[in-house]
Amino acid sequence: MQIFIDSADINEIAKWSRMGVIDGVTTNPSIMLKDGVYDIETATREIAALIDPLPLSIEVTTNSPDDMVAQARLFASWAPNIVVKIPHVTYEGVPLYGTISDLERSGIRTNATAAMSLGQVILAAKARATYISLFAGRVADEGGNAAEVIRLSVEWLERWRHKSRVVAGSMRSVGDILSAVTAGAHIVTIPPQFLYKMADHKYSRETVKQFLDDAETARKMTQQTARVDWGA
Ligand code: E4P
Repeated sequence: MQIFIDSADINEIAKWSRMGVIDGVTTNPSIMLKDGVYDIETATREIAALIDPLPLSIEVTTNSPDDMVAQARLFASWAPNIVVKIPHVTYEGVPLYGTISDLERSGIRTNATAAMSLGQVILAAKARATYISLFAGRVADEGGNAAEVIRLSVEWLERWRHKSRVVAGSMRSVGDILSAVTAGAHIVTIPPQFLYKMADHKYSRETVKQFLDDAETARKMTQQTARVDWGA
């Protein structure tokens, strides 16, 4: 299983990348806005260079299929490790699998984004999307069973040997992350705040403190013993 970081914050990406625990980066226009990224090209080039050769997903910012193709070509020209996020449908409901299929056939890797259902996963896989981002948190927001959608999607992709990988995203808690992991997601994309939560545990801290305190006590006792030996 791979872990992506769901962020456009270069400091967090650099930090978690150096720790060796992330296999790629995902962003979207809302994440960029939240992280103070207004110049998409500069930030994308910087992140892509930092994590190269790991994949960086960035999303098109247009609702027009023709403009998406032009934008995808532009984004892909910025760095070899860029993956272009294309939604499954426009906001009027026009399917975008032709766009995904054309881009993949021209050598541009796609991430079919904002998927909420097994039906969408099946169609994106047929269009040969490299990644399919299933928005688990948003599925759950509507009362859906996100873990079940992830499990069925991964089973279906593997049964029919499709190359597409499921990226479970839209994580709202560490519980969501662990549900996606146990459901068999190929990749989970995690916002930095939950990576910190996953690393931390109150009892781990207490244990570390106990060991350091005992090491210090032992060091003092060695000094005392040395003084007694010297005096004798
Ligand atoms: C991941 O690729 C998505 O962009 C992200 O996880 C979406 O999360 P949201 O539902 O919180 O916007």
